[in-house]
Amino acid sequence: MTKSYQNTQLPFEEGQLSETAFFNDVLDLFMGFRSGHVSKYIYEAPEDSLSERTDEKVLWGAIIEEGQTPYYLPKADNELLCRARQDLVGLVPSSTPVVDFGVGDIESFVKHALPVLKALKSDYYVGIDFCEAYLERIQKRYNADQKIKIVTVCDDFFEPQIKTVTPVPALGLMTCSTIGNIHGTLHDSHYDANLSRALRILARLTNHGWLLASLDTNQDAARLYQGYQTELLARLFLTVFRRIPVELGSIGFDPSLFVYEPEWHPELQLFAHMARATAAQDFRLGDYRLHIAKGQKFHLLNSYKFEASFFEACCDKAGLAVQQVWHHETPMKLYLLKDKACRL
Ligand SMILES: C[S@@+](CC[C@H](N)C(=O)[O-])C[C@H]1O[C@@H](n2cnc3c(N)ncnc32)[C@H](O)[C@@H]1O
Repeated sequence: MTKSYQNTQLPFEEGQLSETAFFNDVLDLFMGFRSGHVSKYIYEAPEDSLSERTDEKVLWGAIIEEGQTPYYLPKADNELLCRARQDLVGLVPSSTPVVDFGVGDIESFVKHALPVLKALKSDYYVGIDFCEAYLERIQKRYNADQKIKIVTVCDDFFEPQIKTVTPVPALGLMTCSTIGNIHGTLHDSHYDANLSRALRILARLTNHGWLLASLDTNQDAARLYQGYQTELLARLFLTVFRRIPVELGSIGFDPSLFVYEPEWHPELQLFAHMARATAAQDFRLGDYRLHIAKGQKFHLLNSYKFEASFFEACCDKAGLAVQQVWHHETPMKLYLLKDKACRL
């Protein structure tokens, strides 16, 4: 039997609600069992749920448009990638497959991944993202392209279900400092081991090839706050709350009672994306009655801002050699890392 709440016709049977990953992840967030783990529900704005039933637009595409955000990251990332593409041919064998860690929207694919494929004369692309909507859009638009074989994998690349996605060593591509999105709480003292472990997992997924990864090394609190505290980014990070009444049929939950309030934790090199409740509220999520107090904070996801020397030490521990670094006038850097086990 389908239950109907005030304004929402739920798209699932009673009882199924508590089985969805979104339901459990949201419950963990509100109950404080886990933190920094809801990025999946922030990047993704599935066309068939949010966009149709609310007025949502795909936000990531807008963010990577230069000039849309005062923070230098998307523009610097793009400039570094343009420079690196010219040098790549001498550093990575021609025809090497490309594994895109964090596909993003079509705009990202066209702007970042496609030119790398062309530079390497590669005809094999594997896009990994935990947001299915992004993968579907790439498949819809490009799988008729006979020149490139497009494979998409819906998985969490920091905690993947699979071991590798390519039969031969590939070039992993990780743009927009996505490496800074590794999981971790506000209390992790072993974040160096956490980073090394993530790098080792990525190397394994590329079948021990290369990783071209950008890194934002900014340690300047004022510049970080100024760059991130914009209306567009606040809207992006608060997406998770707007999805709750639409997709989970919560009763009495008001997503407008949160503001985006990031925190810089220099001791962890972590810029944590946080939300603060502007008022108390009581609501129901499935069978659970929940209370949020005014001022309560929720840790949504991470943007670690690793210093270059720290990052390089972690690469070394993960068995990755720094083959080349492209520097930018901002604190952005682009690393080409090579698995020490790679024989090519
Ligand atoms: C910062 S965006 C970058 C997108 C794109 N590469 C670009 O340069 O515009 C990060 C992307 O990685 C995905 N992502 C982040 N963490 C992930 C994870 N642990 N597993 C799978 N996908 C992840 C997000 O869904 C998003 O598409």
